[in-house]
Amino acid sequence: MNREDFKILESDIIYFDNGATTLKPYILSDSLTDYYNNYSANAHRGDYDISLKVDTMYENTRELVKDFINAKSTNQIVFTNNTTDSLNKIVFGYFKHNLNNNDEVLITKAEHASNVLPWFELSNDIGIKINYIELDKDHKVTLENVKKAITNNTKVISIAHVTNVVGDIRPIKQIIEYAHSKNIKVVIDGAQSVPHMRIDVNNLDMDFLAFSAHKMCGPTGVGILYCKEELLNDIKPIIFGGGMNSSFTFDGEKEYKKMPYILEAGTPNIADIIAFGSVINYLNKINMNNIEKYEKELREYALNKLKSIKDIIIYNENSESSIITFNIKDIFSQDLAIYLNKYNICVRAGNHCAKILKDELGIKNTCRMSLYFYNTKEEIDKLIEVLNNPNIIREII
Ligand code: ALA
Repeated sequence: MNREDFKILESDIIYFDNGATTLKPYILSDSLTDYYNNYSANAHRGDYDISLKVDTMYENTRELVKDFINAKSTNQIVFTNNTTDSLNKIVFGYFKHNLNNNDEVLITKAEHASNVLPWFELSNDIGIKINYIELDKDHKVTLENVKKAITNNTKVISIAHVTNVVGDIRPIKQIIEYAHSKNIKVVIDGAQSVPHMRIDVNNLDMDFLAFSAHKMCGPTGVGILYCKEELLNDIKPIIFGGGMNSSFTFDGEKEYKKMPYILEAGTPNIADIIAFGSVINYLNKINMNNIEKYEKELREYALNKLKSIKDIIIYNENSESSIITFNIKDIFSQDLAIYLNKYNICVRAGNHCAKILKDELGIKNTCRMSLYFYNTKEEIDKLIEVLNNPNIIREII
């Protein structure tokens, strides 16, 4: 779908690393060029036309993000640098002040580093305990296992909606509903879900959601933090400076702004945030439901063909997202990725920043293909042809 919107797709590249970052459509660079050439002022500081235009465009993106995830108000939408930054702001801006040393946080061994390390650090700081929800035989989270892992001290569940290696779609609606019945807050890492399906934060009753623009055709350096309305006044800044204060005096008196501005200290990533607005309009036009449906079809197609490859090991056959993780017996995953690169096919190899998942998968490194709406069945056919090469081992050595 929509391949003509991507300059890079005029070449013969086959890009299957969309879990890492997606390709960028013309609309993104057009919007960036427009800002840099025609109204490159700062935001929230000027009383002249181009600065007022920046304010309007910047806040327009916030409005578009609000509608994109069906939040109630723009106060709930904070611009950050990326998902990692959003998660750190949640952990250190909210939970650091709302947990104590007897409290427990539940995560899983399939989480990305950005949903593990901040919790480890918070544990060092204030002594919280981190426990793991057991994964089932397909490395998935079930509501039953969530229930089993909860104790009287559990205060937070922090999980990816879709994991970046196993690619399973977690039953977050049921998990959030159950967690709330036990007064447990839920943090959702939406980095691998928001770009691929319609997310309704209201319907899901989310407390916190983090995601990145660059994994959904947007610019690098822009992340989103969504926060439930009733928690807005309890989030504290972790970065201090201009833009987030209303006043301060020489003797340390200070007043900070309210959400979302209290978390947006310093000159923000204006050009990219404005350009992200254009990208959201673009995705809305394509329609997230169409993207989800098409990716499902592509995944089925790829999976069926991959299964026919000699000596392939697929680690997530029963997952639902457009991530397929595999190895070929006796070939190191990175060697395979380098081999595929010879044919202009881009996949990611390694541990994919989910470094404790090896305990579950029984293997440290894998190859991961991750699809997006501009991928095609013909590209998948090319991958299969290259993997079926009888000389594959010889070419790798
Ligand atoms: N988190 C990104 C990935 O899974 C970078 O590749």
